[in-house]
Amino acid sequence: MSKEFKATEYILQSVNTGKQFKDAGWTLDAPGEDKPSLIRAIYKKKQIDVKDISHGIYRFADWLPIHKTLEGSSAPITYKSKGLAKYLGLSKLYITFSGYWPEIGSNFPTCSFKETEAYSVCGRLSSEEKKVLVVASAGNTARAFASVCSENNIPLLLCVPEDYLDVMWFNKPINDCVKLVATKSGSDYFDAIHLSNLACQLDNFIAEGGAKNVARREGMGTTVLSAVHEIGKIPDYYFQAVGSSTGAVAAWEANLRLLEDGRFGNNKMKLMVSQNEPFIILQEAWRADSRDLLPMDDDEARKKVETIIAKVLSNRRPPYSIPGGLYDAMKDAGGDVLTANNEELLKAAKLFEELEGNDIHPASAVATATLIKAVHDGTVNKDDLIMLNITGGGEEKFKRENDIVYLKPKHIFDINPDLKTLKEVLDKLF
Ligand SMILES: Cc1ncc(COP(=O)(O)O)c(C=O)c1O
Repeated sequence: MSKEFKATEYILQSVNTGKQFKDAGWTLDAPGEDKPSLIRAIYKKKQIDVKDISHGIYRFADWLPIHKTLEGSSAPITYKSKGLAKYLGLSKLYITFSGYWPEIGSNFPTCSFKETEAYSVCGRLSSEEKKVLVVASAGNTARAFASVCSENNIPLLLCVPEDYLDVMWFNKPINDCVKLVATKSGSDYFDAIHLSNLACQLDNFIAEGGAKNVARREGMGTTVLSAVHEIGKIPDYYFQAVGSSTGAVAAWEANLRLLEDGRFGNNKMKLMVSQNEPFIILQEAWRADSRDLLPMDDDEARKKVETIIAKVLSNRRPPYSIPGGLYDAMKDAGGDVLTANNEELLKAAKLFEELEGNDIHPASAVATATLIKAVHDGTVNKDDLIMLNITGGGEEKFKRENDIVYLKPKHIFDINPDLKTLKEVLDKLF
């Protein structure tokens, strides 16, 4: 059920050409432009009016491209670190936490910042929309969309590789408006994406759009809005683990908007994004000063992905080169692509739990590990204002405190099914 809400006023703009245009409802690309580009939302309200915490993620609605709000959301929570800060000798370390930690006010039942995306994207979706939203994921995004759509009765087709079905855990049964389908064992995230693309060729389905969906980015950007609202100032450094890097692009975009707002300083946060070794395609491209990702052998990439613990950081085609993507963001704001190996991330997760008091996802542990290294090697100084984006956490705590049920797939497809078979199955499901 949507609350009474006056739609946020905004227009869209092509990053590549600067051309502005109206949102036709679900615009993902700049109309009439051949060269791919991210599009950006430009809000009528230049100074954000942050509402109280009871509005959940929609406390930041002034800067979300939505026309309705949904039930059940929680906003990222930012607090000044004591334990980790003292251990590292940092005087201004702020932690933004998106996950399960009711004691600090963070109540994400799917335990990651992907829920911010889902609430923003579904708030953009028209209530009149007859088509079924399609999302492909191998991790936290799948769980977030399933939960938000289930709570709010939004039809959803979710495509997940069979080998990743153990991510589909919840604390209550998922409403039947959410249909999970899988690509058979041995397939990966890219096969699930392929299946979702095929489904979107059918009349009845609409692609969520990933990084191209402004609502997805703005949802993730609320982590920065939360931090700046709490601190009163734009941080010097932003630490986040990345796979697609959409969150870091969103952080940069939120920063640009905060500059226009004018009340929070005039600096751009250095984007300290991080990957799990040995899967480090963004670092390789960035350090080679290349706008294009360097050529990569698919089999080699797959092998590397197998070894990393933070599997959600394994996107092989991140929006790095596209105008408005990570390359542009880091060229504009500064920063670096850092890395941590499995051992370092496990140590960092343990340290975080001991010093801060909650478990964190492996991806968040990668970000924490790179912060620790950046302090030790002098990349950041003791008095720098630092935001550590803990993008997922509290999962172990949540599972201890809740009974867990798993969502089962309605159908398991062969890798690359033909369109006719797919249509027959989906016709029966919806
Ligand atoms: C917990 C967590 N952290 C970080 C990321 C990376 O996010 P992105 O690269 O989309 O900004 C993901 C992606 O799934 C995630 O689930």
